[in-house]
Amino acid sequence: MPPAIRRAILPVGGLGTRFLPATKAMPKEMLPVVDKPLIQYAVEEARAAGIEQIVFVTGRGKTAIEDHFDDSFELRETLRSRGKAAELEAMTEMVGRPGEIAYVRQQEPLGLGHAVWCARHLAGDEPVAILLADDLVLADTPCLKQMMEAYQETGGNLVAVTDVPREQTGRYGILDIGKDDGRLVSVNGLVEKPSPDKAPSTLSIIGRYILQPEIFGHLDMKERGAGGEIQLTDAMARMIGSMPFHGLRFEGQRFDCGDKVGFIEASIAFALARDDLGPDVRERLRSYMA
Ligand code: UTP
Repeated sequence: MPPAIRRAILPVGGLGTRFLPATKAMPKEMLPVVDKPLIQYAVEEARAAGIEQIVFVTGRGKTAIEDHFDDSFELRETLRSRGKAAELEAMTEMVGRPGEIAYVRQQEPLGLGHAVWCARHLAGDEPVAILLADDLVLADTPCLKQMMEAYQETGGNLVAVTDVPREQTGRYGILDIGKDDGRLVSVNGLVEKPSPDKAPSTLSIIGRYILQPEIFGHLDMKERGAGGEIQLTDAMARMIGSMPFHGLRFEGQRFDCGDKVGFIEASIAFALARDDLGPDVRERLRSYMA
């Protein structure tokens, strides 16, 4: 049985330039899909998978994220005095237990690999889960929970994967595939953002990872990769061959909310999936399409 995964790293240090001006004074991860910020979906997914400790890698201008997961005395008292019990309970639940969330700063956004490396001391010598809030998954069983179950079979490193159109390979980390049983694939290689003609497949990594602590040693080298950034994909690629490395085709639909079209699509899909909003939203969309 592989060691349990108790900690998750949530990197939120990026600049979110694709969403300017919305992200000038507000973190990209606080953009709401329906009525919840992206980062809250990620935290809830981590908790649902049994994660006990969450490390946010933040940067300048990201204090709204810390405030979001903190107690708000004024709001709490206002909800209480107005008898809004359901809202009060929801606000209290999302804050979490004292000490559950820790924060480290990434002083400069040098890339996802660098962000993860900044959490090395808090991650300790244990495998970690990593969740990118801008990848949102709509699924019956939360994506990280599906991964935790698959990890019991595979051990080693495990990434969630999905097929993307070939013309989009340049946006993602792409797998060179070995054995493939339709659900689990063994990873022979990883390439960050290959052009469509150079991509070894169209199977892309989404922002969900379970990685062994050796990743931090590889990130220590601080090698620059695609776009001049310190890439997590490059450090992961160095672990192939030394331990099991698999991709999991998870069940559910992934939305790339770092991209405007993906974000809009997520807002529609998540609204349609809600009992309280779905019928009205469906009706309005019909009238737009007519
Ligand atoms: P992106 O590649 O989407 O970059 O990061 P970005 O800066 O957030 O957005 P754009 O491309 O400028 O619009 C993927 C994830 O990695 C984190 C981001 O916060 C996001 O969750 N990240 C990226 C960091 O934490 N630090 C970095 O240096 C880069």
